[in-house]
Amino acid sequence: MIKRNKKKLLWFILPSYLLVSLASLIVVALFTTSTFKKFYIKHTESDLLAISQLIDPLITKSLKKKNFSIIINKLDNLKVESPLQFTYISPEGDLIYDSAKSEYKTDNYKNSPEVAAALNKGSGVSIRFNSDLKVRTMYLALLHRSENRVNGIIRLAVSIKSMDIVLMGLYLKIIFIGLVFIIISVMVSIFVSQQITRPIKELTICTRQYACGNFDMDLPEASSKEIGSLILQTKHMSKRLSENITKLEKLEKMRKEFVANVSHELKTPITLIGGFSETLLEEDVQDPDRTRKFLEIIKKHSERINFIIEDLLTLSKIEQDEGAQIVLEKTDIKAVVLRAVETCSVKADEKNIKINTEVDGRLKIRINPPLIEQAVTNLLDNAVKYSPADSDIKVSSNIKDKHLVITVSDPGNGIEEKHLPYLFQRFYRVDQARSREQGGTGLGLAIVKHIAQAHGGTVDVKSEINKGTSFYIYLPLEQDRS
Ligand SMILES: Nc1ncnc2c1ncn2[C@@H]1O[C@H](COP(=O)(O)OP(=O)(O)OP(=O)(O)O)[C@@H](O)[C@H]1O
Ligand SMILES: [Mg+2]
Repeated sequence: MIKRNKKKLLWFILPSYLLVSLASLIVVALFTTSTFKKFYIKHTESDLLAISQLIDPLITKSLKKKNFSIIINKLDNLKVESPLQFTYISPEGDLIYDSAKSEYKTDNYKNSPEVAAALNKGSGVSIRFNSDLKVRTMYLALLHRSENRVNGIIRLAVSIKSMDIVLMGLYLKIIFIGLVFIIISVMVSIFVSQQITRPIKELTICTRQYACGNFDMDLPEASSKEIGSLILQTKHMSKRLSENITKLEKLEKMRKEFVANVSHELKTPITLIGGFSETLLEEDVQDPDRTRKFLEIIKKHSERINFIIEDLLTLSKIEQDEGAQIVLEKTDIKAVVLRAVETCSVKADEKNIKINTEVDGRLKIRINPPLIEQAVTNLLDNAVKYSPADSDIKVSSNIKDKHLVITVSDPGNGIEEKHLPYLFQRFYRVDQARSREQGGTGLGLAIVKHIAQAHGGTVDVKSEINKGTSFYIYLPLEQDRS
């Protein structure tokens, strides 16, 4: 597996912020310093030019007298920042006068760029390091004419140290601003990256919790549209996940309960069969009546196991059919009900119970006949089982809200209200002992409910203590099959 070191978002944001701010700072710095330099040089140049024009008329006089003191006095009187150096050079480039009186190493002044330019175009400017004054200096040279004849070259020099000092100050300021920019960039990058990553970090914590099956944690608030839609999708996902998990947990709980119930139901008859057969084997039972009684008990309980297994198989088959859709055919509902009545008539006769039917013979609806017959049989079986002798039971059918309703009513003892919500659950019995005694498995009503559901219908029960009970099967008249 390739291990990639992923960079933090900050390391993507910070360089770009730094680059943009420093680049703009450099541009501003270059522009400011060059503008300042140009302005300063232009200003100094025009000052020097004005001064040279001022002293121009004095030069001829000074040359004649071979004394330049008037010029020097004049220059000294000028209020300039730094002292001016005045030089007079012959047209051939030889030094005639120099106010600094330094020993110039320059053999011929013609090689100085400002002098060469002056001889060429009338004037020239040059900036260079002055080895005498040990400062950067600006030189201005002008042709000195009288009566259209070039007499010589006036050269003025002034230190531009102050410009360099100002520039140095400017550079220091720019470096300082640059540092401030870097600090601000770092702070802004940290802030921006935190703004972006905070909800993502919170979202990560949430999803980690969801992955562990803990859906209690609330998702963070969205800081932007993009993150908002991510949060919304996560919300949908977690909702679906949590629903699925609840469903799975419910199914798992049902499965466990079912296994426990089945084991519990089978345990008693199996223990009894085991116990009685052991007694028969171990004891030397001479009494044929006792032997017969024991064998009858064994038979009764093995039949019970058989009933339970048969009912469970019926249930599981209906459940499978529910998933795969049961086969429906247009059926005369009265015929189906009458077959169920027929099945229960033996038990009803034993208790002298009369079963009345009130079913419309012309009614044909799409059902699965054996399943509906089984459901009605189960309800009738209960009605007979849980009603006193010599009573009347009624099976009827009517149409209500686009449904065929099959009703089985009995005048029995009724069922307490607290039991009604659980009545259709597997193995649920109101009176455990009595029902078992009557041979009930507690699966009859569960089967009824599943049959109704397999038809897209429902079941219901209404009961009043000491008055009786009515069970209802609702079957949709139009099967919605897509
Ligand atoms: N008509 C009724 N009147 C009174 N109680 C009833 C009636 N029908 C059902 N019950 C109660 O509901 C319980 C569940 O009925 P269900 O038919 O599921 O099981 P069962 O009758 O005990 O067993 P079996 O699986 O043999 O039908 C019964 O044990 C009984 O207590
Ligand atoms: Mg029953």
